Amino acid sequence: MAYNNILVTGGAGFIGANFIRHLFGKAGFKGRVVNFDKLTYAGNPANLEDIDKAFGGATGRYVFAQGDICDYACIEGVFSKYEIDAVCHFAAESHVDRSICGPKDFVETNIVGTFTLLEAARKFWKDRQDRRFHHVSTDEVYGSLGAEGLFYETTPYDPRSPYSASKASSDHLVRAYYHTYHLPVTISNCSNNYGPYQFPEKMIPVMILNALERKPLPVYGKGENIRDWLYVEDHCSAVWAIMAKGVVGETYNIGGECERRNIDVVHGLCDIMDELDPLRSSASMKSHHELISFVKDRPGHDLRYAINCDKIKKELGWRQSVDFEAGLRSTVEWYLRNMSWINNIRTGDYLHWMQKNYSSR
Ligand code: NAD
Ligand code: DAU
Repeated sequence: MAYNNILVTGGAGFIGANFIRHLFGKAGFKGRVVNFDKLTYAGNPANLEDIDKAFGGATGRYVFAQGDICDYACIEGVFSKYEIDAVCHFAAESHVDRSICGPKDFVETNIVGTFTLLEAARKFWKDRQDRRFHHVSTDEVYGSLGAEGLFYETTPYDPRSPYSASKASSDHLVRAYYHTYHLPVTISNCSNNYGPYQFPEKMIPVMILNALERKPLPVYGKGENIRDWLYVEDHCSAVWAIMAKGVVGETYNIGGECERRNIDVVHGLCDIMDELDPLRSSASMKSHHELISFVKDRPGHDLRYAINCDKIKKELGWRQSVDFEAGLRSTVEWYLRNMSWINNIRTGDYLHWMQKNYSSR
């Protein structure tokens, strides 16, 4: 499918920014990208400064529009001004711990915001089937696995945190718009992403930044929870494959096929930090491993996620390209090279929230 004007919601966040970079890079997209983002604490226009320089301004191929996906009038304006023919919907409140402390924003943005976008697409596209609404979702909608088994596209939904419940709700709305109004939708449910530009509230960047400052590395519970890790660029290529070749009405699982216990990921990061940012031989601490600190567990902490992604591999020819150990190293290297990005973020809301919620740990 060829599109002219893609609306990317949440394009100033972690995955959205990587996706826009992917569109102008490896995907070879030739049209215009409109990045629609509210710029919450998680949105940072600096994530796309290079893209703005190369494709913004006079060329008009990259446009940034600040706004809230819950604001129908604002979205309507964007659809009409830029003749949007595809939506890739990333915008969301995305952090499970924050959803436990304050679920309201999750209900508003993830449910009401998705509904508002669906309404705008329905109004503008009418019955046209050469349009696409791609909804980016999470494997957390499937709940938690025990020691065995995998999540399939057919696994019944069983969300357990306010975050995953809000994402499950948005998935149901997207499917309802397909069945009821024949809106041309696709959905993807992806496992844990890591890589450049991830906001330092998620586990991997929290550990890297704390290690840099020789602060404790807060591992929840016993560190035995398992996540399936995928390098962010591989998520981006999967989403683009679905937008370009996926079948309307279908859901595709995306995953790294890379299960790791949290404690093993943290030990891996400490090994890399020992090599890339060694401690002084005179220091009392000899290794970053000594910073590991087991803290109070997350309430309702899902034990294990593991994705079966045979469908996207077989039907769309997608593959992961980055091995976890190599991806983890290049992620640490990226944060070490981008201290000014980190320092800009480590102010305001970030510091306030981290101090309020983590100072007792
Ligand atoms: P993020 O928190 O880094 O970025 C979210 C972006 O959405 C930010 O730029 C923020 O400003 C914007 N936003 C928030 N509320 C908005 C609103 N009301 N209107 C407009 N913009 C708003 O999130 P992320 O990690 O990049 O995740 C992106 C999407 O991918 C989410 O839908 C998330 O559920 C999904 N997902 C994430 C992962 C992961 O591991 N991070 C895995 C699977 C799926
Ligand atoms: O599975 C996909 C989901 O992955 C996405 O939908 C979410 O948007 C994304 O945030 C992520 O959710 P998780 O809760 O799995 O990610 P997080 O990085 O917060 O935590 C990963 C694991 O590490 C989890 O088991 C909790 C644990 N953890 C997390 C933090 C922040 C720690 O042990 N210490 C920490 O400081």
